[in-house]
Amino acid sequence: MKVGLLTGGGDCPGLNAVIRAAVKVGAGRYGHEHLGLLHGWRGLLEKETMPLGPDEVRGILHRGGTILRSSRTNPYSRDGGGEEAAAAFADLGLDALIAIGGEDTLGVARRLHEDFGINVIGVPKTIDNDLSGTDYTFGFATAVQVAVDAIDRLHSTAESHDRVMVVEVMGRHVGWIATYAGLAGGADFILVPEHPHPVTDVVAAIKRRHEAGSEFSIVVVSEGYELEGADTGEAVDEFGHVDLADVDVGQNLAARIGEATGFDTRSVVLGHIQRGGTPCAADRVLATRFGTAAAHLVAKGTFGRMVALVGDDVRDIPLTDAVAELKAVPPERFAVAEAFFA
Ligand code: F6P
Repeated sequence: MKVGLLTGGGDCPGLNAVIRAAVKVGAGRYGHEHLGLLHGWRGLLEKETMPLGPDEVRGILHRGGTILRSSRTNPYSRDGGGEEAAAAFADLGLDALIAIGGEDTLGVARRLHEDFGINVIGVPKTIDNDLSGTDYTFGFATAVQVAVDAIDRLHSTAESHDRVMVVEVMGRHVGWIATYAGLAGGADFILVPEHPHPVTDVVAAIKRRHEAGSEFSIVVVSEGYELEGADTGEAVDEFGHVDLADVDVGQNLAARIGEATGFDTRSVVLGHIQRGGTPCAADRVLATRFGTAAAHLVAKGTFGRMVALVGDDVRDIPLTDAVAELKAVPPERFAVAEAFFA
């Protein structure tokens, strides 16, 4: 079989580990031939490819980013884009396609499978951990670790200067990274989109904490938290997502906290630092398990599925379930963090 692989959306620690596993297992165990499609769906539309054999995937397990490059191209955002993608799949002589991506990339994979019968397998990737159907996505653990390392460092500065430090983390419209990084970093307050507290709660908590003898505080805010009265951003990508980098929630929040408390307040935006660099061990293992499972599914001819972590098992679920809805932090999980708010 000739199997195409692509990575779409934001880069994510562990992408190369998936590619390596899928190619090594597919070629070594089943004799599959592989073709890399460059820059996500753009590579399929433009038939921009690279050879992808055991030689190309050697030595990439620990490397961040993706050797296949990425983009946020959406074939369905242009007229006839779905038909074009299906025609390119046939022209390239592909029998199957492993699409590694988040909600958007997998949404396109599902549509190509439903509309044109393309043999796709999805692999869930995103630091945001917002895909339903899988308990965790690879890349999330690394992003949380990066954020926790930063919070640990910011603690020193906050403590030395009697400051409030506001740390803005990624996560788009859900607060997985904020909740986990805040919990592990000992944040005094965490703001997430799906369980929003008003700024007045944060201000009251910080005042209480200072009255009780602490002279510094750490607040973690998710980029998708909607600050009352602040801009919500206008620029959108091909999938209609607002560019949250334009919103500056951390900076605005710090200004409001500083004004309301009179405490010296600073903000830090961790941004893409959370996405780049080497994957942690847990993400390497998860990515390798996902890539291996994808190769097995291709060999079995079971398409229109996504590999998923359910409990501690890797299973496969319909792609439709994977992109049905965003997976928010459950209230009881967030409540664990709330119990430690000042
Ligand atoms: O989905 C991953 C993610 O890093 C989000 O957390 C963030 O909102 C977005 O991508 C940033 O995208 P870009 O790299 O296009 O700025």
